Amino acid sequence: MSEEKEMSEKENVEALAKILHDAERVAVLTGAGISAESGIPTFRGEEGLWKTYRAEELATPSAFHANPTLVWEWYDWRRGIIGSKEPNAGHKVLARWENIFPEFSLITQNIDGLHEKAGSKNILELHGNIWRLRCLEEGTIIENYDTPLKEIPPRCSDCNSLLRPHVVWFGESLSSSVIQEAFQSSSSCQIMFVIGTSAVVQPAASLPLTASEAGAKIVEINPDPTPLTSYCDFSFRGKAGEILPMIDNELKRESSVLKE
Ligand code: APR
Repeated sequence: MSEEKEMSEKENVEALAKILHDAERVAVLTGAGISAESGIPTFRGEEGLWKTYRAEELATPSAFHANPTLVWEWYDWRRGIIGSKEPNAGHKVLARWENIFPEFSLITQNIDGLHEKAGSKNILELHGNIWRLRCLEEGTIIENYDTPLKEIPPRCSDCNSLLRPHVVWFGESLSSSVIQEAFQSSSSCQIMFVIGTSAVVQPAASLPLTASEAGAKIVEINPDPTPLTSYCDFSFRGKAGEILPMIDNELKRESSVLKE
């Protein structure tokens, strides 16, 4: 990295830490990129899932009805990968921030459960969670961490109906209470971090715009620019697992200086 870029990044981190230090209401939107350093493939990156697999064959209600076994084999494979991975430094910083800001909301598009594994408690999972299964008949949701699954397709132990992954597929709506809460915290936060998302999938991609319109500072962390970059007050070209600890260390330094 050029000296000039390093300097400007350092200055940006310092400037951001000052603002962050005085903030009370902080919101964070994460995408697949925050789990990339944990070894989980993203969707649209170089080795992204959608480069190899066709979403319409695996992540839609009609695909599931057409071939539940194929869809479940694919989710079982993903659970196998995700189950063997650990949260990285990026996830851990966000878990710490939950305890230091009076109002902190973590909104994720990820279904991998790594935020929870890192210790985050209040997580708005916009697209569901791969470790939860839902009965097609009764709608009951059960937690299951078996890798591999004992039975494919898995069935409801009460009514023997098919279980489906408790995730949001293309063409399906999000939980209205979850998305409402996400827009609520986006429109009331003072700072919103947008971490590891290509910002092309709605309604998640509208959350930072809502925050920006409400006057919040927008901070993007992504090795690549996105359609949101031009709306950002800070845009860090780098990896979440490296940039978040840098910001957090500067925040700690800022807090200790101000305490003296
Ligand atoms: N740190 C930060 N960002 C990263 C990193 C990293 N280490 N590695 C990659 N990225 C960035 C990529 O540059 C890309 O912009 O993460 C982004 C991942 O984008 P996508 O693969 O499109 O994932 P996401 O935005 O989460 O997808 C949204 O689409 O497929 C659906 O439901 C699925 O939740 C998903 C939604």
